[in-house]
Amino acid sequence: MTELTDITGPAGQAEPVAFPQDRTCPYHPPTGYDPLRDGRPLSRVTLYDGREVWLVTAQATARALLADPRLSTDRRRDGFPVPSPRFEAGRDRKLALLGLDDPEHHQQRRMLIPSFTVKRATALRPWIQRIVDELLDDMIARGPVADLVSAFALPVPSMVICELLGVPYADHEFFEEQSRRLLRGPGGADTLDARDRLEAYLGELIDAKAKEAEPGDGVLDDLVHNRLRAGELDRPDLVSLALILLVAGHETTANMISLGTYTLLQHPERLAELRADPTVLPAVVEELLRMLSIAEGLQRLALEDIEIDGTTIRAGDGVLFSTSVINRDTAVYDDPDDLDFHRADRHHVAFGFGIHQCLGQNLARAELEIALGSLFTRLPGLRLAAPAEEIPFKPGDTIQGMLELPVTW
Ligand code: HEM
Repeated sequence: MTELTDITGPAGQAEPVAFPQDRTCPYHPPTGYDPLRDGRPLSRVTLYDGREVWLVTAQATARALLADPRLSTDRRRDGFPVPSPRFEAGRDRKLALLGLDDPEHHQQRRMLIPSFTVKRATALRPWIQRIVDELLDDMIARGPVADLVSAFALPVPSMVICELLGVPYADHEFFEEQSRRLLRGPGGADTLDARDRLEAYLGELIDAKAKEAEPGDGVLDDLVHNRLRAGELDRPDLVSLALILLVAGHETTANMISLGTYTLLQHPERLAELRADPTVLPAVVEELLRMLSIAEGLQRLALEDIEIDGTTIRAGDGVLFSTSVINRDTAVYDDPDDLDFHRADRHHVAFGFGIHQCLGQNLARAELEIALGSLFTRLPGLRLAAPAEEIPFKPGDTIQGMLELPVTW
């Protein structure tokens, strides 16, 4: 058994590194994480409030710990580690799926699995393609210059998740704004207000669906008519599920489209490879997911002592996972900082691992393949319309992506 001091001191980590930090380049981990990339599987890092927690940085250790039921995702527990003061607000409220441990988590997840299978995502491809084609038609008709985030990257997943859930896309400005406040707002009362508004909106939508004699074909319609009525879900849980599906369903994929486009434009020789051989597209998406690791700093709380890699994580310790560093583990990937569509090992943790592994990953992959494939096919001359280093991207304490992306063609 190794004590904390053994890994914080002699192995090269004199002082715990601050976590999270802003990226220096939008598609690489912050240079401030360099001391964490020396092959150690676990390091000590300091959160915004000065608290020290564990940061997992190796692939094998991450998989073992993300599959370990002794680590909890229940944010209501005392001592649950949050990477930003913004995520303190509302931590006392129950959060569906991602905020629940088994068995309750499993009860919710099994109700949703049929709506998010590979088969279902494949069946949705024709209408995802229609949405993408129409948005590109509009963007092209308006002519360059365009902000790719507002014209394409955000509306694609927003429209898709609205249709899938049965939420009116006409309300997109409202829910996109509340999601932005939740994920990137000033925190405190503002975060709570955004959550209250989203919950009130989704609660009304659910009540309206419950009154319909004939259910619509959205996932929420199914949950209302088959699960709520049967008493398998109560209204607050259904509202919370709707909230996480709506927010996770559009924010994440939108960031992958914008940051994925920026990254490809910054790697012209790789982009040429994609253009020459479109069959490489699924591998492009997988490699971008690995390299960009937009969902950074997954959070867990140790419920019991855990011995791993010669280290003891104590009950009550916070454990975070740096997906960006884990996905560049040199034990798994050669030249991990390179964008390489031909890697033998594609087992990244960009979608997490274990029981909370991303429910929407099949949908996200379908959206990314169609959005990126169509964008570069329709606009062979696509390029940045501003110097790359001047284009703003998101701070390190939230989902990573571009704030805007001016493009021309
Ligand atoms: C490329 C886009 C996406 C990325 C990178 C991503 C990433 C992730 C990650 C890393 C987790 C695990 C978090 C953890 O273990 O702490 C997760 C969970 C989740 N994601 Fe995604 N996600 C994406 C798209 C989506 C989409 C389109 C949906 C649609 C509904 C979605 C819904 C969810 C849900 C519901 C969970 C919680 C699952 C559970 O707790 O069982 N995600 N996602």
